[in-house]
Amino acid sequence: MSKELIRLKDVTQVFDGETVLKDVNIYFNDSEFLTLLGPSGCGKTTMLRIIGGFQTPTSGDVFFDGVRINDVPPYRRQVNTVFQKYALFPHLNVYDNVAFGLRIPKEAPDGSREKIKLSKEEIDRRVREMLEVVSLKGFEHRSIASLSGGQQQRVAIARALVNRPKVLLLDEPLGALDMRLRKDMQQELKRIQQRLGITFINVTHDQEEALAMSDTVVVINEGVIQQIGTPEDIYNEPKNAFVADFIGESNIVDGIMRADRVVEIFNRRFTCLDSGFEKDEPVDVVIRPEDVDIVSEAEGQLRGVVTSVTFKGVHYDTIVDFYGFKWLIQTTDYCPVDSHIGIKIDPDGFHVMKKSKYSGMFGDYSSYSEEYDEINDPTILDEEEAEGAEDED
Ligand SMILES: Nc1ncnc2c1ncn2[C@@H]1O[C@H](COP(=O)(O)OP(=O)(O)OP(=O)(O)O)[C@@H](O)[C@H]1O
Ligand SMILES: [Mg+2]
Repeated sequence: MSKELIRLKDVTQVFDGETVLKDVNIYFNDSEFLTLLGPSGCGKTTMLRIIGGFQTPTSGDVFFDGVRINDVPPYRRQVNTVFQKYALFPHLNVYDNVAFGLRIPKEAPDGSREKIKLSKEEIDRRVREMLEVVSLKGFEHRSIASLSGGQQQRVAIARALVNRPKVLLLDEPLGALDMRLRKDMQQELKRIQQRLGITFINVTHDQEEALAMSDTVVVINEGVIQQIGTPEDIYNEPKNAFVADFIGESNIVDGIMRADRVVEIFNRRFTCLDSGFEKDEPVDVVIRPEDVDIVSEAEGQLRGVVTSVTFKGVHYDTIVDFYGFKWLIQTTDYCPVDSHIGIKIDPDGFHVMKKSKYSGMFGDYSSYSEEYDEINDPTILDEEEAEGAEDED
């Protein structure tokens, strides 16, 4: 069973009158790979700096293993950080970069004035062990300048891990690497974390990276945690329109919950899996582009006209106009521009969310249009369509 290691309780950070983190409550488990995900400026680095002890929050508390550590300085926390600009010592070789932290005498845990100094043998053992963990065995004597970006990043990780922290903080560690190397290093980081069994708290604004690497993803916007969950939760059950839009591509439309498991969009009722809303509660409905099946017009639950098709290799990005609302559909079926098509969506293709301050802000393919009022008027549906709508119950 994983146990709680770090907790932020009601943490608020204000800089120059601006609230950068607002009432943050979150815990981080032992041996967990957790990613803080959010757009630039949302407060990710600030949260890491608070955990690392480089920043004291304006209000709220930080706990480590149940003990309040607000006033504990960084070097006495069992936490190490890999910064985006990883600042290796250019004049030292790989070995000495990694060994650097071990050669500094440490305060004894009991706070006595006697400092702990590791033996040469112990330092050597630890450095070699860490270089092996990050797959840099044999690179001991190489100069930093002779290493690739990915190799330098590995040195930075080894240097941060060699002190055996319980938590490793990673602030966009892969940001400087090119796409291919990024993907390799994602796998590598995950492997290192699993092998060492310690907690990694990673920061990124790349949603794919967050989904690929993490046990837990924390989505943040404007200093407020929007959702915490597994990658699957975050993708499949976004809490609000911000999360739905930020994680993957989505069609976000206005809907009304008519009853448990009955959602109405475009004046038609569909079976969904969501329940627990008020009767007739206005909601946001997310439909992922890959959850829409294109069928013949006659078979369709909704009908529309294809306005653009882009070949993407695995699928076609097909934009379909439904009564003035543009949806993105990803399909392996080729439907040329101007074709009239029908679509079908299975009950698990609807993700119903509470209205939030983000409602109506996102969804390039579902934005408000003049036709909105028309489709809200049932009289514009022809009789056959109206009957179809009744059948959806
Ligand atoms: N020491 C500081 N003094 C004043 N403002 C600060 C300070 N540190 C951060 N900020 C502000 O706080 C906000 C959040 O910054 P932060 O660095 O946490 O964002 P971020 O999510 O890490 O963004 P990015 O993805 O661009 O790195 C920003 O508006 C930033 O300008
Ligand atoms: Mg940052």
